[in-house]
Amino acid sequence: MAEEGTYRIAVLAGDGIGPEVTAAARVALETVAALYDRRFAYEEGLVGGAAIDATGEPLPAATLEVCRRSDAILFGAIGMPKYDDPALQVRPEQGLLGLRKALGLFANLRPVKALAALVPSSPLKAEIVSGVDLLVVRELTGGIYFGKPSRRWTTARGRRAVDTLPYREEEIARVVRLACALARGRRGLVTSVDKANVLNTSRLWREVATEIAGEADGIRLEHVLVDACAMHLINNPRRFDVIVTENLFGDILTDEASVLAGALGVLPSASLNGRRPERPDSPAVQFGMYEPIHGSAPDIAGQDRANPLGAILSAAMLLRLSCGLEDEAAAIERAVEATLDGGLRTADTAQDGTRVVGTREMGEAVAREIAAA
Ligand code: IPM
Ligand code: MG
Repeated sequence: MAEEGTYRIAVLAGDGIGPEVTAAARVALETVAALYDRRFAYEEGLVGGAAIDATGEPLPAATLEVCRRSDAILFGAIGMPKYDDPALQVRPEQGLLGLRKALGLFANLRPVKALAALVPSSPLKAEIVSGVDLLVVRELTGGIYFGKPSRRWTTARGRRAVDTLPYREEEIARVVRLACALARGRRGLVTSVDKANVLNTSRLWREVATEIAGEADGIRLEHVLVDACAMHLINNPRRFDVIVTENLFGDILTDEASVLAGALGVLPSASLNGRRPERPDSPAVQFGMYEPIHGSAPDIAGQDRANPLGAILSAAMLLRLSCGLEDEAAAIERAVEATLDGGLRTADTAQDGTRVVGTREMGEAVAREIAAA
């Protein structure tokens, strides 16, 4: 049993570079723990390809148990080349989708901030990306990812397949409500993204979003079609504050938005279910799963070359959103910026005049900055 006041963190390192980046995130958490007198207890669980190798399942029941008795999950990455064939019955991705569904993680928060030191790493012009600070709130447990029927079959006239895109009013309402609450602590602009000129689900989305935002104080709501949004994200990304959208649009737009930050490897995310942890004596304010948005990068796995900053910044989100530890979260974020400003880079973000270090050294450098501040 963990001591009173101890935050219990499930560590699901997963595949590829997942173990290396979550290890670096734990170093940051331990540094904060020592400095601010906090206690974290970690429990590991198998997920993704690593879990298929060990148990035959991408999300073993034991892993779900570890998650349910935790206050928050620190997630690494999933995906292995040998399980890449989308026709396989059992795939690593099912571990992630299964976790989202089983834990009811309906809101995925993906902040995209252009850190000054990484602006030169973006393929876009500095005058477009500098100062970008937006947050995408992606609906995560509904829509076409989970709609039934979803199947393929063969007819006399050829192969067919169908996926289904359903949304219920309350699924839209809760994620838009959360986006409005988050926008209140920012610039107050909520951009709801849909395809209302074509899709029924999008017309419902627009209607519900208008009703929910109408009840929220201090919020300006705008509706933007997803194709136009994809263009504005590159043309004029600074116009956005909070973007809220359905599952598949959010998947696509967040990969696009990641380019603005200069590196996929530095971007964190949080997935929330709007509830407190299930365990009764938890000191946490809300449950959540935290993961860098990058994938498992099997080509560089185990080589100490991965960028750990996305995982470290995910740990900061964990502290802020699940533990309610704002000072500790901000300390990690400042340390990441200071480390980059000091010229250290992992290989993915190397520029002239910077010094390239490995995953572990980058993690240790951030820890030193946390301690030095
Ligand atoms: C993401 C990923 C996942 C998704 C995959 C791995 C199933 O792309 O988290 O954005 O599509 O949601
Ligand atoms: Mg994606």
